[in-house]
Amino acid sequence: MNKERIAVYPGSYDPLTNGHVDIIQRGLTIFDRIIVAVLKNPDKTYFFSLEERLHILNTVFKDNDRIEVDHFTGLLVDYVKQKQAATVVRGLRAISDFEIEFQMALMNRKIDSRIETIFLVPSIHFSFLSSKLVKEIYQLGGEVKSLIPEIVDQKLKAKMRLGPEKIT
Ligand code: PNS
Repeated sequence: MNKERIAVYPGSYDPLTNGHVDIIQRGLTIFDRIIVAVLKNPDKTYFFSLEERLHILNTVFKDNDRIEVDHFTGLLVDYVKQKQAATVVRGLRAISDFEIEFQMALMNRKIDSRIETIFLVPSIHFSFLSSKLVKEIYQLGGEVKSLIPEIVDQKLKAKMRLGPEKIT
């Protein structure tokens, strides 16, 4: 029997954007299963809590049994091995992503040479999109509805209603 091809797509997902969704859909044309792994980093302050980020992902991908939503702490390569996967997927939007992604891929390889990183290029329509910009535009009263899943728009609007001072 052929071994299942499993890839881990790690990230902060703070919040999920259509660019991430696009990468996941492209990944599913190559892999049997994608594990969308949300980093839980206690030293970092996020806009959405881990629970909120997982809830968003679980809602968006609830009908696709080839997508697993999970979270991890510690080293990515350890998590990948724990999930019996050997491939990390990352999106490359532009040359500006390349340096940090190249560094991470090589560092992960240095820690464990059996883990490969595969870069997927999103649609050109998302090449300028980032979670950071989505948050910034929302906080300044702009609209980026077409660039995020519906549930993210709802959650962002709900947070805005609490007032910026309540946003962490
Ligand atoms: O969405 P992001 O913030 O660009 O994702 C970064 C992420 C989660 C992929 C990266 O920070 C990571 O892998 N962190 C886990 C800790 C680790 O393994 N660090 C060494 C990476 S070389």
